[in-house]
Amino acid sequence: MNDVIVARALHVLFVVIWIGGVAMVTTVVLPALRCGDLGQDRLKAFEAIERRFAWQARTAIILVGLTGFYMCWRLDLWDRFRDASFWWMHAMLCLWLLFVLVLFVAEPLVLHRRFPGWAKAQPTIAFAWLQRGHWLLLTLSLVTVLGAVAGSQGWSMF
Ligand code: HEM
Repeated sequence: MNDVIVARALHVLFVVIWIGGVAMVTTVVLPALRCGDLGQDRLKAFEAIERRFAWQARTAIILVGLTGFYMCWRLDLWDRFRDASFWWMHAMLCLWLLFVLVLFVAEPLVLHRRFPGWAKAQPTIAFAWLQRGHWLLLTLSLVTVLGAVAGSQGWSMF
């Protein structure tokens, strides 16, 4: 079972890198950016930070997915997806799919093409929406982490 222990340790390690980064961007970077602490060109500052973090997040998401599916396969946990008491397994999968969509589809197609124009025309509104979106993703992530740690130790809400 050493392989499952390694997979679990890597799973949590990359969750920490990924969700920790989301928390940092949401609670530190975006507020500083919005009030002009990172310079008057908010778009340039945002793109410089986002460009660097996006690759970390993408790599971490791929590794979280690989280790998560590996554990499901090795321990044959697929039946859990038919049982509502394992809601935290559904939460992990849905959150993962949501971030895959955001980072691999929406970001290159929407954020890079449309956001710069919007941020130049209406910077206050554009950055306020960006921060709201990050708060939503962070809240879902934290609920998932709490549910997964408690759930994998046997806690059940139902
Ligand atoms: C493809 C998506 C994912 C799959 C298939 C998956 C699968 C798994 C599996 C099988 C476990 C072990 C459960 C057990 O021991 O009973 C686990 C644990 C865990 N997962 Fe995921 N996961 C995924 C995504 C995520 C995401 C997105 C997060 C966080 C936001 C996350 C956070 C955790 C945490 C915190 C644990 C508990 C580790 C522990 O306390 O030992 N997982 N995951």
